[in-house]
Formats: sequence, C-alpha cells, structure tokens
Amino acid sequence: MTRHKIFCIIFVFLFSYGFNTHYLAEAAATIRAGEQLNSTSQLVSEEGKFTLGFFTAETNFSYFGIWYTNDDQARKVWLANRNQPILNTTSAALAIDKTGQLVITSAGRIVVNVSDQGYGGNISATLQDDGNFVLADESDRRVLWQSFDDPTDTLLPGMKLGSNLTAGKNWTLNSGFSAQVPASGAFSLSWEPFNESNQLVIRRRGEVYWTSGRLMQSQDDPALQTFEFMTLNSPFDAYKYNLSTRDDAEARYFTYIFPRDGRFPMWILDFQGNIRQDDSFNLATTAFCLGYDNGNGCVASSGLPVCRSQDLRFEEKNAEFINGDSTFDDNTTISLSDCMRRCWDDCNCLGFVNSSNGTGCTMYFGTSYTITDQPNSVSKYVLVSSKTDKKAKGSKWVWIVIAVVVSLVLLILASFCVFRMRKTRLKEEEERKREKYLQELIASDSFNNPDETGGERREGHDLNFYSFGSIAASTNDFSDDNKLGQGGFGPVYKGKLLDGKEIAIKRLAKTSGQGLVEFKNELVLIAKLQHTNLVRVLGCCIYGDEKMLIYEYMPNKSLDYFLFDEIKRDVLDWQKRLNIIEGVGQGLLYLHKYSRMRVIHRDLKASNVLLNENMNPKIADFGMARIFKQDETQANTIRVVGTYGYMSPEYAMEGTFSVKSDVFSFGVLVLEIVSGRRNNSFYNIDRPLNLIGYAWELWKGGHVSDLKDPTLKAKGVDVEKQLSRTIHIGLLCVQESAEDRPDMSSVVSMLGNENIPLPIPKQPAFFTGRNALDLTSSESRSKDISVNDMSITVMEAR
Ligand SMILES: *[C@@H]1O[C@H](CO)[C@@H](O)[C@H](O)[C@H]1NC(C)=O
Ligand SMILES: *[C@@H]1O[C@H](CO)[C@@H](O)[C@H](O)[C@H]1NC(C)=O
Ligand SMILES: *[C@@H]1O[C@H](CO)[C@@H](O)[C@H](O)[C@H]1NC(C)=O
Ligand SMILES: *[C@@H]1O[C@H](CO)[C@@H](O)[C@H](O)[C@H]1NC(C)=O
Ligand SMILES: *[C@@H]1O[C@H](CO)[C@@H](O)[C@H](O)[C@H]1NC(C)=O
Ligand SMILES: *[C@@H]1O[C@H](CO)[C@@H](O)[C@H](O)[C@H]1NC(C)=O
Ligand SMILES: *[C@@H]1O[C@H](CO)[C@@H](O)[C@H](O)[C@H]1NC(C)=O
Ligand SMILES: *[C@@H]1O[C@H](CO)[C@@H](O)[C@H](O)[C@H]1NC(C)=O
Ligand SMILES: *[C@@H]1O[C@H](CO)[C@@H](O)[C@H](O)[C@H]1NC(C)=O
Ligand SMILES: *[C@@H]1O[C@H](CO)[C@@H](O)[C@H](O)[C@H]1NC(C)=O
Ligand SMILES: *[C@@H]1O[C@H](CO)[C@@H](O)[C@H](O)[C@H]1NC(C)=O
Ligand SMILES: *[C@@H]1O[C@H](CO)[C@@H](O)[C@H](O)[C@H]1NC(C)=O
Repeated sequence: MTRHKIFCIIFVFLFSYGFNTHYLAEAAATIRAGEQLNSTSQLVSEEGKFTLGFFTAETNFSYFGIWYTNDDQARKVWLANRNQPILNTTSAALAIDKTGQLVITSAGRIVVNVSDQGYGGNISATLQDDGNFVLADESDRRVLWQSFDDPTDTLLPGMKLGSNLTAGKNWTLNSGFSAQVPASGAFSLSWEPFNESNQLVIRRRGEVYWTSGRLMQSQDDPALQTFEFMTLNSPFDAYKYNLSTRDDAEARYFTYIFPRDGRFPMWILDFQGNIRQDDSFNLATTAFCLGYDNGNGCVASSGLPVCRSQDLRFEEKNAEFINGDSTFDDNTTISLSDCMRRCWDDCNCLGFVNSSNGTGCTMYFGTSYTITDQPNSVSKYVLVSSKTDKKAKGSKWVWIVIAVVVSLVLLILASFCVFRMRKTRLKEEEERKREKYLQELIASDSFNNPDETGGERREGHDLNFYSFGSIAASTNDFSDDNKLGQGGFGPVYKGKLLDGKEIAIKRLAKTSGQGLVEFKNELVLIAKLQHTNLVRVLGCCIYGDEKMLIYEYMPNKSLDYFLFDEIKRDVLDWQKRLNIIEGVGQGLLYLHKYSRMRVIHRDLKASNVLLNENMNPKIADFGMARIFKQDETQANTIRVVGTYGYMSPEYAMEGTFSVKSDVFSFGVLVLEIVSGRRNNSFYNIDRPLNLIGYAWELWKGGHVSDLKDPTLKAKGVDVEKQLSRTIHIGLLCVQESAEDRPDMSSVVSMLGNENIPLPIPKQPAFFTGRNALDLTSSESRSKDISVNDMSITVMEAR
C-alpha cells in the first residue's frame, strides 16, 4: 500500500493532477490503466474499511477478492474469479488492459475477464468504503462497471437484490459450492414477485425452494421492518437492519442499511442454502427444506416421492448401517444438497454423506442403522422420523383422532367451567382467534397430545400441549401453597399431574408482546435446546391471554437457596461446588456455541441455577428473552432484563450485550459460589466494596484464598490450588472490558484442565459508588436506568 501510495504521489506530481489531499488519499484505493496489482500488493479503501487483493484458499487455488480489513476471519465478500481459480499467483496480476477491460493476467496472458467488456482508454477502478469496486470514466466519473452489480454469495449494506428493469439485468446472489470451494453452488437468492408481493426467494438449482414471506413491520421496533420467515430485528439482538425496497418502472430491488459500526455487516447465502449474518447466526434456516411447506418459508414442491412423508427429515449422526450397501458417485459437480435430494428421491436410501471437499455423494441403503458413540466415526446424514412408532399406523390415526377429540372436548368443558366461574367475558372475536390458534397448535407436528403418551416425552424435541384444566387442577387452581417463587417473567408453581408426575409451571405475565404463532415458533426452538445442564421444557399451556411454560420439576430448588443459607450451605462441599461451576459453564457454552440458535441468557444468577436430586446444576430461564419480547410502548409491562450485581458494565451503562455479558455474570456466580456470599453483601465492611471489589483487593494483596467460604473445610494442597485457580478464572470473567474476558469455551477448558496457563486478570468492573447509593434506600431496590431512550427496570435479587 505504501509503495503504491508513493508511486501515486509521483504519478500525480508528474502529471500535475492537482495537489488536493483528498485525491491523494483516494489514490491509494485506485488502480489506473497501465497499472498492475500483483499477488503481493493490495488496494485499501479510503477509510481503510475494505481491502482487495489476491489470496490462496485451503484448496491451494487462488482468488482475487474483497474483505473487511479488520475481519480476522477475512471472509471474502466478493470474488472476481470464483469459477476460474488461479493455480500460480507468482505471475498473476489484476490490471486494466489496453481496451479498458478489467482483467486478471497470468504471465502476461489474460486468464479472467473481470468486467464484461472494454470501455476505452481513460478509466480507473476504485475500491470504495462501502465495499464496492467501481470501474469509472476518469473524466466524468461515469460508472462503467461495479462489483455490486456482479455479486457472489454476500450481500453488503447498500448492495441491491432484484432487477434493473431498464437495463434488463438482475442482481442475484449465488451460494458457494461447499465450505471449502467458493465456486458457484446450488443456491441462489433473488428478490422477485411471489404470491402477490415482492419477496426474497431462494432457489435450488433453479427451482424455488424457500421464500421470505412478506415484508412487515417489526413487532418490536415499528420503525424497522422484518420478513415473515426470517429472524431479523428481534428485540434483544444487537443487529438492527434498516430494510428498504423500490418497485417502479425502472427498478425493483431490496437493500438494507446497517447503521452501527464495529461489526462486519453481511448476509451470506451459504452452501446449504441458509442466510447467515457475520457472526454465523442464521437469519433464515432453509437447510433441508424437503419439499414440504413447514411453516418456515419452505416451499412445497410437486412430485414428491410417495415413500416420503412430512415427519421424515435428515439429521447428522454417527451412524453404522446394518446389512448395508452403499453407492459412491465421485461426480465433482454435485454438492451436499444434490446428494440429499438424490437420497430423498430414492425410496431405498437411508442416508448420505459427501466427500471431503464437499463434492461427490455416497448413499447408504439397507434395513436400518445404529447410532454409534465413537467420536472418530464419520458423521452422516441419516433419515429420522419424528414419529417413532411406525407400527399399526391405521389404528394409531384412530387413536390420535380420538385423543384430539377427547382433549378438545375436555378443553372446551374446562374453558366453559372457568368461563362460568370467573364470569369474565371473552369477546366473540377473541374467542374465534383463540380457537384458530389452538387448532394450529394441536395440528402442529411438533406437539404431542399428552393423553396419547401419558405425559411422557419420547424422542427429540416433542412438546406437550397441556390443557388449562389439567394445569389448574395440578396446582390446586394456582394456590399460594403451590407457588415456588416469583421469577422475572411471572410466578412459578409446582404442579402434580394426575399420573403423579411433578412439574413446574411458569405463568408468563400477560403482556408478552408477542403473538401466539411466534410464541409457538420460539417455544419449538427452545425445546430443541437440550443439554444436561439446562432445565428441560416439557410443553406449554395456552388459554386466552394466558401462556404457561411447563418444565421438569427440580426437587432441590435453586442454588441460592443453599449457597446463601448459614446452615444449608454445609451440603455444598468443595467438590459439589466445583461440579456446579463446571456444569453451569457447560450449559452456558452450549447456549452460546453449540445450540445452533445462539442464545444469550442475560439473567444468569444463583436463583436461576436449579439443582436436581444429585445436586447437579441446571440453568433455568434460558431462552426467556426470546419468548418474552419486550414491549416498550406499554407502561405496565414488566421489563426485567437483568439483575443488578450480575450485569456487566457495558450492559448496565450502554445497553449493549453479547456473550461476554453472560461471561461476566458467570464470573460473579463463580465468586459467589466460592465465597458463599452474595455479590452485594459487603456493605457492613467499612468501605462499600462489592464481592468483585473485595476479591480484587485480595488478589492484589496476594491473599486470594481468603475469599473462600469459611465453612469449606479444604483438605490438602490440591484443593487450595483448585480454589485459587477457580477464583482466578472468576476474576478473568469479570474484567471491565468485554474484549478481555475469555469466551465460554476458554473458560470451560481452563476449568477442566489445570495445565492451561491463566492470563493475569485486569482490574474488574465494580460499581462502588452506585452500590453505596443503592443501599441507602433499602425499601426500593429496583430502579430505572434510562439507556438509549429505552427504560429498563432492573430488579435486584433477594
Ligand atoms: C509486485 O509489485 C511490486 C511493485 O508494485 C513489486 O515490487 C513486487 O516485486 C511485485 N511482486 C511480484 C511477485 O511480482
Ligand atoms: C496445498 O499445498 C501444500 C503445500 O504444497 C500441500 O501440503 C497441501 O496438501 C495442499 N493442499 C491441498 C488441498 O491440495
Ligand atoms: C509459478 O510461476 C513462476 C513464474 O512464472 C514460476 O517460476 C514458478 O515455478 C511457478 N510455480 C509453480 C508452483 O508452478
Ligand atoms: C475476455 O473478453 C474478450 C473480449 O472483451 C474476449 O476476446 C476474450 O476471449 C475474453 N477472455 C476470456 C479469458 O474470457
Ligand atoms: C484522463 O482523464 C484525466 C482526468 O479527467 C484527464 O486529465 C486526462 O487528460 C485524460 N487523459 C486522456 C488520455 O484522455
Ligand atoms: C439500471 O441500469 C442503467 C443502465 O446500465 C443505469 O443507468 C441505472 O442507473 C441502473 N439503475 C439502477 C437503479 O441501478
Ligand atoms: C431476472 O429475474 C426475473 C424474475 O424476477 C426473470 O424473469 C428474468 O428472466 C431474469 N432476467 C435475467 C436476465 O436473468
Ligand atoms: C400467499 O400469501 C397468503 C397471505 O399472506 C398466504 O395465506 C398464503 O399461504 C400464501 N401462499 C403461498 C403459496 O405461499
Ligand atoms: C432507515 O433508512 C431511511 C433511509 O436512509 C431513513 O430515512 C430512516 O430514518 C431509517 N430508519 C431507521 C429506523 O433508522
Ligand atoms: C455429473 O452430474 C451432473 C449433474 O447431475 C450431470 O449433468 C453430469 O452428466 C454428471 N457427470 C458425470 C460424468 O456423470
Ligand atoms: C462434507 O462437506 C462438508 C462441507 O464442505 C465438509 O465439512 C465435510 O468434511 C464433508 N464430509 C466428509 C465426510 O468429508
Ligand atoms: C474435490 O476434490 C476432488 C478430488 O478429491 C477434485 O477432483 C475436485 O475437483 C474437487 N472439487 C472442487 C469443486 O474443487
């Protein structure tokens, strides 16, 4: 870049173009006719946001592309030669040739045409700060060609999707071939008329596969829009996209603005057909749309094989096929989704797998398969059914129909009784709506009828739908005796079903700011989160405005019940506490990293860690932030989004949160578990320090093991070492700056492996001033902080 700059300065000087500094800066981003960009030089946009140059992929093929300069993954947002990779970059260069065409040359020979034609002599190509690489006429700055008109698989802010009707050209994204190979793959994303509106449309090999649904107002921010079948602009997401469209005689397109800095905004159409944002979160999950309309935008296709039904899908498993036979096709033009389609269309196929660079296809046939636990066995996509009981299909249907009818009758009776009892009147319209939703819920595949299964869950993420009557009966009509506690989102009751099974019921506060369909969709997602350290969601109950979540019942209550009680804390010896810390870490790691939907808990604290009969920890209230959408326009909504003392400074002060905010809460929890004291319980010491501050003082003084709960009778040097190490890790998690805090995967490995060296913690965040202030008003321990025009009520744990 510097060399290029010097060259340009000399160039400018010689030709007396003028001594305008603006022009000089721009020159660093520009290449002119007669200049070359070889494999060791790069263009950088004026403000340095984007870089353009050659790079070599894992496959040893080289490409010419654009990436965000500061993106450590250097994801390529545009490629000039995705389908014509270069084998030897030593002699390769990007240049504007004599005819005014942008080309890639190798050993002086043109190997790739980047622009589609030549434009005459006096032109230059500039990398702009929006990521657009523009070929323009020097004299009048007329745009001749631009990379935004020739996109690959990534939509940057300001890029268009749709059609330029005057030019008769389309802006369309094309997915890559596989994770390793960027060549054009099976999927395309376009903006086109569909079902009487313009929609984002994903096609697989030309066939419509998924559509976004209509553009509609975002429920949470009326100024923003979202799509029916995309997860965009949700209330707790830091990503906010400002979508806009145009539809007139000249052009029909979709585009978006991303107003915030500090991230790398991009929508990627990945090789499986999903739309992802830069942190890999799926904005649209379309992988494995199998030709049925599943309510998430998948488009039903005709000509489905008769042997396949809607309850079948492919899942990645370590499978061994029994009496198996397999075929291998090394055709390098077929990718994962082609292989899936072949297997789906062949009634004898049980599973498939691609080969290593994502090409080729192995299909498995046989009578059945077993799932192995061996970690080194190759995982395959195998066909699974959401209905396990395949026998007696006919009679099963009869039972389902009977069960549905019986439960409907029961439900109607129960509703009627409660209706009479309460003498409240539901308006006719509301009732009609409810019926519709109930029908949908019952019809939905993801819900089972508890009468049919005896309340037992069988497999996967099936949810039970409980009638209001059965829940009311199980809790003795929500009597106070059965109340377990009051959570941020509403009271929690203990219930006992007729079959003796114990459950916990969270009765959500009425204004959840969310429609029932969205509620159901969220719930199905959350039910898919399964981990031994997460409390299991069994199902739900919906009645009128009431929404209830049914959880497994935890006999040992929550961690704070033991930890902060003089006598009960004796139960928690060091091994148990360590086990709890590790379990919570694992649960959180799963939420952050392995759950596919990236959940940030936002309210991790001792009372949200429940203990089972063996004192194993299970995180509760995860995913509540997703279910319980905040409604800012209603004053009476309970807006509890965090607990004072567990909130990271950036969240408390600026309202920004990330996985690192959860890491902070985890750090506070670790310190509490080790010390047996609440974070804010230190006000009787002369100085108003909280636990974090106290731990930090001890650390600085070299007496960190004094933090230990005095009731912990540590035995041996090893235990002392473990204790200090755990406190050390806790301090790393509560560091002031979010970047300094480790992520959960580092935390879990540091906890699990004593040989991993720990960095020295920096000064943690602790609000001595605030804390002192808060304690003066012991009556009102909840206060409002106004952040970014958003009022959050912060409640303190007791
Ligand atoms: C690339 O170009 C620079 C000058 O712009 C030159 O110094 C360098 O040797 C070239 N590298 C190769 C591999 O040709
Ligand atoms: C890429 O090149 C390196 C070094 O020549 C070689 O070790 C590696 O196997 C190559 N990778 C592939 C995918 O061919
Ligand atoms: C690449 O090209 C250069 C110059 O043309 C040549 O010296 C070199 O051997 C080539 N490298 C490979 C791996 O072919
Ligand atoms: C590049 O385009 C020119 C016409 O502008 C054409 O003659 C040439 O064959 C093309 N080269 C390649 C490699 O496509
Ligand atoms: C190219 O454009 C520049 C800037 O407008 C102008 O000064 C110069 O005379 C042009 N050169 C030719 C050869 O047309
Ligand atoms: C459509 O294409 C024409 C001709 O290339 C161009 O002048 C016009 O600016 C384009 N419209 C949009 C909206 O990009
Ligand atoms: C552009 O997309 C429209 C659908 O929106 C399609 O009918 C048309 O054939 C496409 N044109 C080109 C040139 O691909
Ligand atoms: C078309 O849109 C209507 C209204 O949004 C919807 O009810 C219908 O299911 C859609 N049809 C298809 C084929 O998507
Ligand atoms: C969205 O973008 C438009 C056009 O730039 C702007 O007028 C509007 O204020 C933006 N809306 C929000 C909520 O940022
Ligand atoms: C590879 O697959 C493609 C697409 O299915 C097909 O058109 C092509 O003929 C196949 N090639 C060979 C060699 O079988
Ligand atoms: C299948 O393709 C994916 C993505 O390209 C790759 O990560 C995976 O390793 C491949 N599977 C096998 C068995 O090589
Ligand atoms: C994938 O690897 C095979 C050899 O294993 C190779 O022949 C093929 O070209 C590669 N496919 C792509 C798209 O790079």
